[in-house]
Amino acid sequence: MSTRVPARVPTEEELLKLNASIDNVRKTIDKEKSNGKRRNCCVVTYGCQQNEADSEQVAGMAVEMGYNLTETTEDADLIIVNTCAVREHAEKKVFSITGGYKHLKDANPELIIGICGCMVSEEKNAEKFKKSYPYVDFTFGTESLWKFPEILDVVVNKKKRSFILNSGDEVICERTPSSRKSTFTAWLSIMYGCNNFCTYCIVPYVRGRERSRRPEVIVEEAKQLISQGYKEITLLGQNVNSYGKEYGVSFASLIKQIAELDGDFIIRFMSSHPKDMSDELIQVIAECPKIERHIHLPFQSGSSRVLKLMNRHYTKEDYLALIKRIRDKNPDISLSADVMVGFPGETEEDFQETLDLIRQVEFDMMFSFIYSPREGTPAAKEVQMSEKDKTDRYLRLLKVQEPIAEQRAQRFVGRVEKVLVEGRSKNNNEKFTGRDSGLKIILFDGNDEMTGKFADIEITEAHAFALYGKVIRVY
Ligand code: SAM
Ligand code: SF4
Ligand code: F3S
Repeated sequence: MSTRVPARVPTEEELLKLNASIDNVRKTIDKEKSNGKRRNCCVVTYGCQQNEADSEQVAGMAVEMGYNLTETTEDADLIIVNTCAVREHAEKKVFSITGGYKHLKDANPELIIGICGCMVSEEKNAEKFKKSYPYVDFTFGTESLWKFPEILDVVVNKKKRSFILNSGDEVICERTPSSRKSTFTAWLSIMYGCNNFCTYCIVPYVRGRERSRRPEVIVEEAKQLISQGYKEITLLGQNVNSYGKEYGVSFASLIKQIAELDGDFIIRFMSSHPKDMSDELIQVIAECPKIERHIHLPFQSGSSRVLKLMNRHYTKEDYLALIKRIRDKNPDISLSADVMVGFPGETEEDFQETLDLIRQVEFDMMFSFIYSPREGTPAAKEVQMSEKDKTDRYLRLLKVQEPIAEQRAQRFVGRVEKVLVEGRSKNNNEKFTGRDSGLKIILFDGNDEMTGKFADIEITEAHAFALYGKVIRVY
């Protein structure tokens, strides 16, 4: 049985110390600014939404310490890279972009560079930055997020490099400021860490044990967000539907409480683990109009044999039965999932089981990954498949899923969807974007005034990766 560690937040004494560090840095930064120096901070984020949320806290603390935020590393005097360790590719990317920052440091010797997040929660990576990247000034792991001001104080005022690993105390970064990127969509982390130890996954090692924030603190934060005008709140956790066991509160009751708050807003949540999907939650989604009709329910493999090797605690049949229970209560729900190919020992028959599950469920959207061995996890010790075979399966899987997504999307054509307008499309500046309930992009003609408002969009065309529509009304 996995253990439950009650969430610890910084004590009053720790907060006093933290505020003293904030003041120390702020004094120096303000002085430098009054001497005409620019003091900009750029936070670069890789990885999942939890990292996006963490980066907003890092940015919030940087602002408290006197920095101005910038989006470009070239303009920055403090660069913080928030990293992801989930696949080798993600790690390689960070080493490569950090290598590129050397020329920025050469051009601006006062530039401070820090690396935080999942990658540097592993000692081997923190050591590598310390030894092989002399222009990196500090690293800190996920559990030391709240100590960022203390770490920066050492670098800024004592002119020392600082490398802090996860302390194991698993303190939740709470009661520290957050600088949210958006003024209308907000991440709300409800829990941290993971206890599941899927045999391929590094997350439990780099994010520590699962711990939930107190329900009343989360509901209060949701209330504040709504009063500040946020229109979409996404509840985040590695396994949100196992939330709250420390307090005898279920995720279903938490999300219901938030959905019952006054105001015009929508709620999303991710990720859910199939083994923890309760009938109570399925019912709450069906009953509460503010909760989007979408469940992201990673299945990873369609082979019960592989699922056992992955330590997932469900079979293919359990998963299919769960999907039926969900669709019986919510016939129109959008379903998305994560799936992986090339897990050690996955045979062609196992892979065919995965394709069969995909065909049976008919997901609206899917995030497909090639298994990447992570040192320290059990599966990494097994005999590995060749990259060629893994890639071959990956491409075959995409070929099966794409027409399904295309066909599923057709049900939206002719419908009017309530959509939160996110702004201009990054790929097509002429069009504006929002998302359907299942998080699929919708493109339409609009204007900048609409950004951050709800719009009713009539869907005129639907494809596997995007829907197109026209605006009926904005509100
Ligand atoms: N906790 C969430 C869950 O279990 O659904 C998300 C975990 S992870 C951040 C997101 C996805 O990355 C996983 O669902 C899995 O498909 C994939 N993933 C995790 N470890 C991986 C690995 N070693 N190689 C390839 N993909 C991996
Ligand atoms: Fe990783 Fe499994 Fe935890 Fe998700 S549930 S973070 S895949 S160990
Ligand atoms: Fe990556 Fe850490 Fe998220 S490993 S996927 S950033 S929890």
